[in-house]
Amino acid sequence: MKIAMIGSGYVGLVSGACFADFGHMVVCVDKDADKIARLNDHIMPIYEPGLAGLVKNNVDAGRLHFSTDLAASVKGCDAVFIAVGTPSRRGDGHADLSYVYAASEELAGAIDPKTVVVTKSTVPVGTGDEVERIIREANPAIEFAVVSNPEFLREGAAIGDFKRPDRIVVGSNEEWAKDVMRAVYRPLFLNESPIIFTSRRSSELIKYAANAFLATKITFINEMADLCEKLGADVQDVSRGIGLDNRIGSKFLHAGPGYGGSCFPKDTLALLKTAQDNETPVRIVSAVVEANDLRKRAMGRKVIAALGGEARGKKVALLGLTFKPNTDDMRDAPSIAIVQTLLDAGAHISAHDPEGMAEAANILPQVTMAHSAYDAAAGADAVAIVTEWDAYRALDLAQLRAAMRGDALIDMRNIYNVAQAEAAGFKYVSVGR
Ligand code: UDX
Repeated sequence: MKIAMIGSGYVGLVSGACFADFGHMVVCVDKDADKIARLNDHIMPIYEPGLAGLVKNNVDAGRLHFSTDLAASVKGCDAVFIAVGTPSRRGDGHADLSYVYAASEELAGAIDPKTVVVTKSTVPVGTGDEVERIIREANPAIEFAVVSNPEFLREGAAIGDFKRPDRIVVGSNEEWAKDVMRAVYRPLFLNESPIIFTSRRSSELIKYAANAFLATKITFINEMADLCEKLGADVQDVSRGIGLDNRIGSKFLHAGPGYGGSCFPKDTLALLKTAQDNETPVRIVSAVVEANDLRKRAMGRKVIAALGGEARGKKVALLGLTFKPNTDDMRDAPSIAIVQTLLDAGAHISAHDPEGMAEAANILPQVTMAHSAYDAAAGADAVAIVTEWDAYRALDLAQLRAAMRGDALIDMRNIYNVAQAEAAGFKYVSVGR
């Protein structure tokens, strides 16, 4: 199969590299000439475990190419994936579809007959109809199909998620297009990953419903964690106790500082807008969005409380800045609101993150970045673990404590046990325990 991937960001690059690894011929396209030049030199625009090696192997094998020339790249392709960004539109939270529509216009005149155009970007319900209209208007004579095929990749685990998916969702009403998609995903099909065929609109909604549901699960356990703190219960026991019920499931029940990242915040907001526009309120999602926003600043206040209620002039060290481990992505990271709350209260902040410091320095210029967790903790009154990087799971707590001026350890991911932290001399605060 010959595949073009328009947009060489997170989703496009991971998907393109994985399709090439399956044996397809893939070209990843991007408007950013610098990014394409660097990719050709095997330099990745993002940090994702395993990606650099996968790209190099497939480039060397001649199955993966990079290009800035969209029109030339889509020629002769069986499937053209649109994997450009759909950020939250400033002001109203709607998904900004300008990149999707621009790509559609550009590919319209260049595709060969019987090309399947696949929207992989997360797009509101009805976007496929609009993409189809754009292509048809620009190129009325050509036979083509527009299919929805949402991605469910977690940053930091994206390659594994692509190669061993729980399911593949394809939204299309045209049999010939479904056959092309079956061929594209055949290697996974043989691994018995289920492919679900739905209408295009259902497929578009599945993506939003999945992310909104997962965001709800996280927010639910976060609120239970708050309740546990008031009631003297332990949220980890509660998570395990409910998660072993197959109807609930044990995943995404880890209490923490609130969800962040490139998907949940943006997609829950976009779903709210779609629901509002269609006069069908989704009250649960609306409560989730609000609770999660409030939670991030509440985490900053948790640190201030651990400092005895006064942060002015105190030094706080944050360990982990990215929204989750194994990524350098700072988009909507809880650390941003936590830093802001602490700065507002007059604290000085140092921080360490294994991969995110370069990105974080742009967003959080007031934070002093340190070379290690122990350097960040030097002279600090409080240390807060914000992101559960593996590198923070086995810190020498005695060394950390010795580097500090104060004794507060705020573990927002519950990676230490209470007895262990207290034995090292910490005033230890975690979430929901
Ligand atoms: C998510 C979806 O999982 C993926 O299917 C979708 O396509 C894109 O969005 P991602 O944002 O990369 O992936 O990360 P994920 O692992 O889902 O975590 C999202 C946020 O939820 C992170 O901030 C994480 O820390 C938080 N989280 C996750 C929790 O607080 N508790 C949990 O139990 C799980």
